Amino acid sequence: MVNHLEEPPVITIDGPSGSGKGTIARQVAERLGFLLLDSGALYRAVALASLNTRTSSDDAFAVAQIALTAPIDFDSNPDTGESCVLLGGQDVTLALRREEVGEQASKIATHVGVRDALLARQRRWRQPPGLVADGRDMGTVVFPEAELKVFLTASAEIRAKRRYKQLIEKGMSAKIESLLADIRKRDDRDYNRPVAPLKAAEDAVSVDSSLLSIDQVVTKVLDLAENRL
Ligand code: DC
Repeated sequence: MVNHLEEPPVITIDGPSGSGKGTIARQVAERLGFLLLDSGALYRAVALASLNTRTSSDDAFAVAQIALTAPIDFDSNPDTGESCVLLGGQDVTLALRREEVGEQASKIATHVGVRDALLARQRRWRQPPGLVADGRDMGTVVFPEAELKVFLTASAEIRAKRRYKQLIEKGMSAKIESLLADIRKRDDRDYNRPVAPLKAAEDAVSVDSSLLSIDQVVTKVLDLAENRL
């Protein structure tokens, strides 16, 4: 594909909650030496800031102000070398994974003011040598001219099982039935909201990861990237 603007290349990976896009995006970025944008973490950080200040998810103006001004930074943990998210200088990486934060993120993400506020923050990540961006609207709204767009799906049951495993491994408690119900609720909100709903871009390659291992999906995306970049 021709890169008309001669900007650094972008690979977008969109998909529903728990489809594995975060893991896949991280590994693809590592293999290519590209930057990684976890846009869900941005929405979650705004959600956490709104919870901390007891701002209602219905207050569109107030949450948009938070999205515009919240002191959100990405860094790497000096002990583990793993990437972390800072809110007001505090490492909130673990707190962002809490179910109530994901739920709040899904609600505040329905406001156009919030999405507009985060647009510029997300586009600034497009830097040499290239970017892998994961989220819901990376290929449709944020980087519509991306060289490669992947739409990653998996059945709700499989996604609930994966989330359960992740939480247990992190030492957090979880119930699979309530995770499945949460995933269905969040899917409904993400797919059906009027602003930037979760959907595959017309030129996206759809990959169903239900029966594939992480390695298989990463290999598939890298193969596609080799053809496009
Ligand atoms: O990918 P995630 O579960 O961390 O995202 C949390 C919520 O943030 C998700 O339910 C919807 C919202 N989100 C969004 O609307 N657009 C994005 N690009 C990323 C996340």
